[in-house]
Amino acid sequence: VVSPKIAPSMLSSDFANLAAEAKRMVDLGADWLHMDIMDGHFVPNLTIGAPVIESLRKHTNAYLDCHLMVTNPMDYVEQMGKAGASGFTFHVEVAKENWQELVSKIKSTGMRPGVALRPGTPVEEVYPLVEGETPVEMVLVMTVEPGFGGQKFMPSMMDKVRALRQKYPTLDIEVDGGLGPSTIEVAAAAGANCIVAGSSVFGAPEPGEVISLLRTSVEK
Ligand code: DX5
Ligand code: ZN
Repeated sequence: VVSPKIAPSMLSSDFANLAAEAKRMVDLGADWLHMDIMDGHFVPNLTIGAPVIESLRKHTNAYLDCHLMVTNPMDYVEQMGKAGASGFTFHVEVAKENWQELVSKIKSTGMRPGVALRPGTPVEEVYPLVEGETPVEMVLVMTVEPGFGGQKFMPSMMDKVRALRQKYPTLDIEVDGGLGPSTIEVAAAAGANCIVAGSSVFGAPEPGEVISLLRTSVEK
């Protein structure tokens, strides 16, 4: 199996105490910290951008798994790289023509490229990006409509995860939206290994227990 990466979504954290929240998650066993960047245009919500990543980077050396829900991802590459982002995952819906240039720029800026797809986007659309000569290194399958935490997991998205896992045995496949103790089993069985979890982790009385449960499910 591909190694599990448990990524608490900091969207559910207390943004006013981001550094402390990040440290708390790392201390509780998080592998990655999932950072949701939104522009109020690609999705009807607005969160954080490069300046916050830059500030947070001064307080942690954790892998910052940045998910860009923005209409013009190219405009964010340089600033995100400089700010200290580790992974840069853009949406395939807005990178139809220039994805090769985008992936090259992400890599040359020192970040790990990933591609995300909305629930309505067919999985076939990301195949060329995984198979290209400058391939993405992760596919993020959205299991809710992007924009907000706390929504209900869409099990029908598991067909995409299964198709990807069958084609690409060693690819990092991330699921994002509605993941928690009651949905992790289906996601792990389908082949997801990178697990984003916001409200299920931050809303739990013992977030560390949820993180280890998620990890155990992926490992078995
Ligand atoms: C939604 C974001 C998610 C969100 C997940 O647009 O991409 O990362 O934080 O939150 P939960 O785990 O609560 O569904
Ligand atoms: Zn996300």
